[in-house]
Order: sequence, then structure tokens, then C-alpha cells
Amino acid sequence: MTSEVVVDLAALGEDFTRDPYPVYAELRGRGPVHRIRMPEGAEAWLVVGYEAGRAALADDRLSKEWRNAAPGLGVQQVSSGITMLSSDPPDHTRLRKLVTREFTPRRIEALAPRVREMTDAFVDAMLAAPDRRADLVEALSFPLPITVICELIGVPALDQEQFREWSNVSVSAPALDDRLAAAAAVKEYLTRLLADKRAHPGDDLVSALIRAADEEGGDHLSHDELLGMVWLLLIAGHETTVNLISNGMLALLGHPDQLAALRADFDGLIDNAVEEMLRYDGPVETPTARFTREPVEIAGTLVPGGGQLVLVALADADRDPARFAEPDRFDIRRDARGHVAFGHGIHYCLGAPLARLEARIAVRTLLDRCPELALDIHPAALQWRTGMMMRGPLRLPVRW
Ligand code: HEM
Repeated sequence: MTSEVVVDLAALGEDFTRDPYPVYAELRGRGPVHRIRMPEGAEAWLVVGYEAGRAALADDRLSKEWRNAAPGLGVQQVSSGITMLSSDPPDHTRLRKLVTREFTPRRIEALAPRVREMTDAFVDAMLAAPDRRADLVEALSFPLPITVICELIGVPALDQEQFREWSNVSVSAPALDDRLAAAAAVKEYLTRLLADKRAHPGDDLVSALIRAADEEGGDHLSHDELLGMVWLLLIAGHETTVNLISNGMLALLGHPDQLAALRADFDGLIDNAVEEMLRYDGPVETPTARFTREPVEIAGTLVPGGGQLVLVALADADRDPARFAEPDRFDIRRDARGHVAFGHGIHYCLGAPLARLEARIAVRTLLDRCPELALDIHPAALQWRTGMMMRGPLRLPVRW
């Protein structure tokens, strides 16, 4: 069956941005696959629910390559190079292999002391505020992940504020022209940064990638792929973990019983609490685009071939009562494993161990050092990132 009714999510405006969960749940009640108009205006096929969503994420009949997108979809790739996230095998396999080593749980665990040190420094600065108030996004959620990823890959001198603006615009701005202009500016900036790094190489990931790209006759990494790799790692550092820290703290501060339980048994509960934060209000609402190469039946709906855009609502998969009992309840003791906040299949998040580490340390530090931390805004008054991809508040006012 092919559904002809277009669900106009664009018409829902800010209500949908603020709280998309009931909208997805209502769609799920009608079936797993829907034709939608995205807030950005383009039409797409949206997959909701856990089973259907998880299957679509791992469906190799769906391509991640934009050259397979139908012309006239009304969407366009916004990126600053070629990345693993927009490649299919074998290119995907080759690109991912180049950096997998750096992100294994063991390698990442070794960063813990340094991440703690950085977190302490950001929290010191925050606690110096004389009025005992701060915007948590500005004070910690944003600077921690970006500083960690810059140091990890070897570009500590990145102009974080400038990059943040471009990055936010290229991922979430409503107007396509603005997003493309920001991506072009990032490309120019990164090209200069890589040239500088080439002139002054070090013992770091970016220098190693430059060597791979410059290798005589080497076919490991093209220059566009080098640019794309650095861009992807930096964007991931800018756009995702920030929302894990913010959304996670928002959930904890909004559920005093859960906060008290975590304080009482931090070591016993923190790992699970982070999984529940990812499940309950994850940073990625719908991940990057997928395209049909051929007509595909997805959970009983025939989606035409020829490059139709397919989106998977991760936010809804993780709130599906068929998979998680009482899904709208935030419960740090539940078994939240199996959530798809990091995706599923070959594009499963490379940075998951790093994101978990940063979240654990950020939450621990905040709870230890700010015993009376509280929200300084009514949650309904928060402003959220626009677009369907990222979910997180623009600012998170707190007091202590
Ligand atoms: C809480 C934080 C994070 C969340 C929720 C998250 C989520 C995701 C999701 C959902 C995907 C799959 C997208 C898709 O299938 O379309 C993904 C892929 C990816 N993530 Fe993350 N991410 C996070 C942090 C990070 C960090 C810190 C890094 C830095 C290394 C990173 C690097 C990547 C990369 C390189 C991919 C592409 C993997 C591939 O195509 O094989 N992520 N992430």
C-alpha cells in the first residue's frame, strides 16, 4: 500500500519543535510509514516506531549517497566534503576504518582524566558567577564536547565560536541558502586550517589523515574526503553531545526523585542513567537522509524507488511502548539498552563511547559541585533547536 496523504509537519510550527513526541506517537498509532512535509518544506517518507525504525536504519536497499537522491526533492546535501555518513560500502567501509582505532572504548576511557580536568575548569568558571546563575549550554554543554574533540583530533586552535555559528546554521537553519553558505564558509576555513596543519604536522589524528591523503599514488583518502572527515568529527563534537548533556540535565532536574536516586547511588546508576537520557530525550531526533534505490517495501508500505527521501524518527523509536514500557516516563533504573539514539547498523555512531564518557563526567561534576543545582526557567518556556535533525534547548538557565 502506498499512502497518498501528506502529513504536514511544517504546519505545526513551534509546537512540533518544542514537543515532537505526541505528534510522532499519533502517527505511530496509524502505522509505521508516513508521507510527510518536513518543517523545511520538502516531502519525505517518515518511519516511526521501534521495529520499523531499527529495520530501516540497517536496510541496505536504502542508500546514504546524495547522488542517488531524486532531482527536485527540495532537499540538498549540506556538507563540507565527502563523509562516511553520506557513503555506502565500499567507500563507507574504507573511510570508517581510517578512524575506528581512535574511538574504541579503551582508547576513549584513557581520556577520562583529561575530560575531568576540562570539565572541572568549565564548572569552576561557571561557579564564579556572582548571581549564582548560568546558562548551562554556554557554560558546559557546548564548550566541553567541542574542546575535547578538537584536542583529540589535533586542532586545538579552532575558532570555536565562529565554527559553532556556522555549524549550527549549516545543520538547523530554516533557509537552505543560509545552510549552504555556512557549509561553504566552513569548507574555506577548514581548507586553511588543513594547509596550516600540513605545514606544521604533529602526532595527532588530523596530521595522520593528511599524510594518508597526500600519499603518493595513495587511494586511501581523497582531499575532499579528508575535508569531510574533519568536518564530520567537528560537527559531531558541536551538535550532538551538547544536547545529551543539556537534555539529560533537563530531565534530571525536572524529576527530583530520579535526581535524588542518582545522587544516592551515583556509581551504581550513572551508566544506566546516561542510557535513559539518550532514550528519553536523545540529541538526534531524525538522523541523516536515506534514499531508495529501487521500490522498497518498508513495514508494509511500498515506497517508490528512484531516490525518495526516507527519514527515521529515532525520537519515536525510543518512545515506542512495544519496546519500552511506559516510554514517556523518565526512569534511570529501567533497562534502556537497545535504544537507537546512536543509530543502528553500519552507520552506528562512531563517537558513542566518547559521548557516554563526557556525559558521565559532566553529570558527576555538576552533581558533586553544585548540590543545589536547579532549573532557572519553566521547562515550557525553553526554546529548542529548529529542524527535525537535532533536539536540544538553545539555552538552559540554571541556578545554584
Ligand atoms: C550523544 C552524542 C551523540 C549522538 C546522540 C550521536 C548520534 C549519532 C547517530 C544517530 C548516528 C547515525 C546517523 C545515521 O545513521 O544517519 C551517528 C553517526 C556518527 N557519529 Fe555520532 N552521535 C553522538 C556523538 C558523536 C561524537 C562525539 C562523535 C565524534 C567522534 C560522533 C561521530 C559520529 C560519526 C563519525 C558518525 C558516522 C558513522 C558512520 O557513518 O559509519 N558522534 N551519530
